Amino acid sequence: MKRYRGWYQIGFGEIGPGPLTPARVGSQRLVLVSDPAGGRLRAFDADCPHRGADLARGTPEDGVIVCAFHGLRVRLGADAGCKHGVREHEVASVGGSVFVRLDGGADLGLAERLRDLDRRCWIVPGFEMPLRAPHELVAENAFDGAHFHSVHQVHNHPNVEVATGADGELVGTGVLEVPVSAWQKSAAHGNVAVPITVRAFSPGVVVTDMGGAFPYAMVTTATPSAEGCMVRLSFAMPRIGGANGPDRRMCDYMIAQARKGLEADRLIWESLNPRHVPQYLAEDGAVIAYRKFCAQFEEQA
Ligand code: FES
Ligand SMILES: [Fe+2]
Repeated sequence: MKRYRGWYQIGFGEIGPGPLTPARVGSQRLVLVSDPAGGRLRAFDADCPHRGADLARGTPEDGVIVCAFHGLRVRLGADAGCKHGVREHEVASVGGSVFVRLDGGADLGLAERLRDLDRRCWIVPGFEMPLRAPHELVAENAFDGAHFHSVHQVHNHPNVEVATGADGELVGTGVLEVPVSAWQKSAAHGNVAVPITVRAFSPGVVVTDMGGAFPYAMVTTATPSAEGCMVRLSFAMPRIGGANGPDRRMCDYMIAQARKGLEADRLIWESLNPRHVPQYLAEDGAVIAYRKFCAQFEEQA
């Protein structure tokens, strides 16, 4: 079985209402446990150590789940030396979105970045889209400057420069020339240059900072599923212009644009030959760097 490490998003706020909620990253089953007192969410492996029953069907008690199959009391968050225990995974949640850090994969600053966005921005969940393609393609998208012109009608062919960020995340920077709109204004008609910075925190989570007249961030995630992956996209809109939340019309427009862009990608991604060995071009440096970055997160169990 393929195991995943590092951060993955597992929901858009649909956790609960019960104390146990099942979740999944690929074939890896998880159970989310809500603390009835503080509302804190914890995540554990969901396979009962005895025979592999799903612990999300069990009954929570103090520090254990009583398995529904043979009644074993399975310790939550036990260390490796404990016989009947399941491992805990770190949880981060922001604006109703829930992320888990699997198998102690590197944090790379995502938890702090999410807290920072939560402090400064309104988090607006955009949409979910199931994809019949490997999840790594979704974050790779932001590093693949060579496709912006042909797939997304960006006017230039942006060169994405890559570097390692302060916390070890992979950072890509570039400038997109896009048509002037209500949100990317310019004194001139025609195109406007919008600087972008993308940060990959795992093969499943990328945060894109869009510059220009109205800076905002986009959190794009792709979580492995049986068919391929589930893509989830949220916006982080700076808290400006009053306390009433972000401009809904603006959000709807941006969500529609993002969905349109992803639909265009989807047609390409779902028709890629997964067995093809790439013959990279000179402008694929950022994609190659992203692929190297991804290699540290996967292991065969
Ligand atoms: S499978 Fe859980 S107690 Fe037997
Ligand atoms: Fe794309």
